[in-house]
Amino acid sequence: MQSPSNTANIEWRDGQPYASEFQDVYFSTDNGLLETDYVFLQGNHLAERWLDSDLQTFSIAETGFGTGLNFLCAVNIWLSTSPMNAKLHYISAEKYPLSLQDLRTALNLWPQLKTVIEPLLAQYDNLINGANTILLYDNRVQLSLLIGDATACFSKVTSQVDAWFLDGFAPAKNPDMWQTELYQQMARLSNASTTFATFTSAGDVRRGLMSAGFNVHKRIGFGKKREMLIGNFVE
Ligand SMILES: C[S@@+](CC[C@H](N)C(=O)[O-])C[C@H]1O[C@@H](n2cnc3c(N)ncnc32)[C@H](O)[C@@H]1O
Repeated sequence: MQSPSNTANIEWRDGQPYASEFQDVYFSTDNGLLETDYVFLQGNHLAERWLDSDLQTFSIAETGFGTGLNFLCAVNIWLSTSPMNAKLHYISAEKYPLSLQDLRTALNLWPQLKTVIEPLLAQYDNLINGANTILLYDNRVQLSLLIGDATACFSKVTSQVDAWFLDGFAPAKNPDMWQTELYQQMARLSNASTTFATFTSAGDVRRGLMSAGFNVHKRIGFGKKREMLIGNFVE
């Protein structure tokens, strides 16, 4: 067992996490919670899709677990909308995991999520490179936390994905992640009902996703961002 070599270097700016290496924020300093809800949850129409009483499993895959805010916001809605016996599989790739202490500090910003945060913190320690399987919330959620580069991690995934959260720092600040190979892995794991959402509207990302087989639409962005992208896979 190998522990992750690349723990995130967090700088705290006005109490908010900031990645000095990437010169970028983990979430909007306007309101990270509302940003997650608007960009990723509404962008993938999750609340509506989870009301389906026949739903058995749903799978989300994310680039960049970071502070876990997207995960916790998704879980919060999952637990209140989905059928009791349905399972959420949340697959998140993270190259630079936060230390437990930094994760705790970051999540202290969201007292309204306390009931979902505590079980995550209790199991977040001792992560290994590669796949970490964490069962949470009476087994209604499986978190597969894949420690490593997103494209490399997704190349080992075999289960289908229903919704993608394309997070990760801005393409201009993290160009290594936003590459054709990532979009090809997304396509490999997608089907006709798979959607995606991302905070960015960068032209390279839009063209990359379209070339990989996704329909891409622009939508008004969150806060100061003019536009963001959403879409679905076309088989
Ligand atoms: C903007 S933060 C994500 C915020 C996160 N979704 C949250 O809710 O806090 C971007 C994350 O992507 C991670 N990341 C950057 N490059 C990556 C890569 N190539 N593969 C996997 N994760 C990466 C960073 O370490 C960081 O945690």
